[in-house]
Amino acid sequence: MKVKVSRKAHFNAAHRLYRQDWDDKKNNAVFGKCNNPNYHGHNYELVVSVTGDIDPETGFVIDMKILKDLIRSEIEDALDHKNLNVEVPEFRTLNPTAENIVIVIYNKLRPHIDAGKELEVILYETPRNFVTYNG
Ligand code: NI
Repeated sequence: MKVKVSRKAHFNAAHRLYRQDWDDKKNNAVFGKCNNPNYHGHNYELVVSVTGDIDPETGFVIDMKILKDLIRSEIEDALDHKNLNVEVPEFRTLNPTAENIVIVIYNKLRPHIDAGKELEVILYETPRNFVTYNG
């Protein structure tokens, strides 16, 4: 019997969507306001889910405290109150779209979750816009 357990988290970050190899006209056409050279911020919301068998001894799929601490150390400490383009190495050459951010988050967490368990990350960039990645 597999159960999916989920933990919500939150971080604030600034970003700018653009390509250095495109001129201003093309960047503005594709990315619009998100290409603001002075950056802009989002209140990102995160739902991290782990699916797996229940440990018969503990009754847990994963200890929520361990998951909470993992999200704090791997995600919040790395991304919260950061300028993603400037301060987060993964985005030096990768456009920090929600799609790319959710994959970076997944890849940071995956090595810390038992290989036999499934991981899914949902990232809300706004209350209405969200992306999902599960590997
Ligand atoms: Ni944005």
